[in-house]
Amino acid sequence: MKIPIDRQSGQALYLQIRDRLKHLIQSGVMPPGHQLPSIRGLADAIQVNKLTVIEAYGMLEADGLIQARPGSGYFVSQPPSASPSLEPTFAPAQSVIIPEHPCGSFCKFYNGFTEANRHPDRIDFGFGVPQPPEDLSRIARRAMTDVGDRLFHYNQPQGQLMLRQQIAQQLIQLGLEVSADDLIITTGSQQGLFLAIHHFVRPGDWVVVESPTYAGTLAVLDTLGARVIGIPMTAEGMNLELLEQYLKSHRPRLIFTISTFHNPTGITTTQAHRQQLVALAKQYECPILEDNAYEGLNFEPVPPPIKAFDREGWVTYLGTFSKTLMPGLRVGYIVTNRQNHQTLLSRKLLYDLHSSTVSQAIVSEYLASGHYRRHINRLRATHLQSRNAMLQAMEKHFPEEATWTVPQGGLFLWVQFPECVSIPALCRDAIAQNVAIFDSSVFFPGQKGYPALRLSFLHSAEDIERGAIVLGNLLKRSLHPSRNIQRKAVA
Ligand SMILES: Cc1ncc(COP(=O)(O)O)c(C=O)c1O
Repeated sequence: MKIPIDRQSGQALYLQIRDRLKHLIQSGVMPPGHQLPSIRGLADAIQVNKLTVIEAYGMLEADGLIQARPGSGYFVSQPPSASPSLEPTFAPAQSVIIPEHPCGSFCKFYNGFTEANRHPDRIDFGFGVPQPPEDLSRIARRAMTDVGDRLFHYNQPQGQLMLRQQIAQQLIQLGLEVSADDLIITTGSQQGLFLAIHHFVRPGDWVVVESPTYAGTLAVLDTLGARVIGIPMTAEGMNLELLEQYLKSHRPRLIFTISTFHNPTGITTTQAHRQQLVALAKQYECPILEDNAYEGLNFEPVPPPIKAFDREGWVTYLGTFSKTLMPGLRVGYIVTNRQNHQTLLSRKLLYDLHSSTVSQAIVSEYLASGHYRRHINRLRATHLQSRNAMLQAMEKHFPEEATWTVPQGGLFLWVQFPECVSIPALCRDAIAQNVAIFDSSVFFPGQKGYPALRLSFLHSAEDIERGAIVLGNLLKRSLHPSRNIQRKAVA
């Protein structure tokens, strides 16, 4: 393949390669399915470093123009068939939930998740974990050889300095003013959640959460004996008018929020919403716990985290590598202000002394390898295609009464149904046809929400289509039983 390279022009070589390949793809010279030269082959042919080609391919991949097939190389992507509607239809009733009793269903929910992993033939819309990078095990081996024996000793509770510096660097790029000293490495962000909630909240205190929200947070609040106020989500995020009313009347001790690719709805709040939330926290002196577990998995630019708008230390921030690298590594982190730092660190020390040094070294080595950005770009491109496939399949097969969110990233979208749909019955009937969904009431405080499903779109287009047909038919049957009876009578 000929790619004219002009070494005198001011344009970086990888951009020249990207532009030329883009032109060849868009003009049809390289049609869908066409195999690109191998990285080494192209680097040799045009006399550039392999990293230059890797960078160019990474950008084309992020734009969805090419796709890597593990073990086979890079291919020009198939064009998306028809573009789905990107207008969210989600507009639920705005009722605040204050549950009287804890529900304690998180363990059942989590065990269901690990159990689902053991049924490879099932289409599992209930849960989603991204593909780990192919080169992770090679990099893990390298981490073990490089750092050797040091990995197996007791370590400091705040975590390894090198990793904290790398994370701080990433966060600075997101707009946060942080240094390695503001960070504590945690055993997944679940531990960060636990430590922060136990730091800010005492039994009997009021805590605000979005309704629906991450079930793991509700479980921590329940076991602590906190009293929960579930402020409803709108299509733009937590209803701030209702939030203010409850900040005034109940004086909560903490606001928990997932600002970007919210779990379970997939909603990302605007910059204005984030700024308003920080202003309310300040006005009512109520700290915010911002959980940004899905950071990095965006299809389009998203506003900086809420913590970036916090000049006075009201926001404690949680991050993790579970959604971008591997959940089994259990590496997360917490960013807080100096005032809370020492107490959180002591709590962390008492809890587990420190997070696994082996896992920290693997993440650190992966970040240092420079492959992280390429891996994330790949995830973004494939997830965008699957999100679109899911939207299209729902448009085609779901009844018109269903309404849904259109996430700008992350792993899930959220579908709401009329009150008459029984989600437990839907789960039972779907599993009988090898499609797994789970009862999304676990995401509501006290399990008191409306009928809805969180659907993971991390599946092939074929599986999404097949699963959506099954769910669509079941939903139509449950919404319009008489039509089915009539059809049977005609038959
Ligand atoms: C919003 C949110 N926070 C925290 C977690 C916990 O993640 P981990 O402990 O693996 O970092 C999850 C896991 O699904 C999540 O969705």
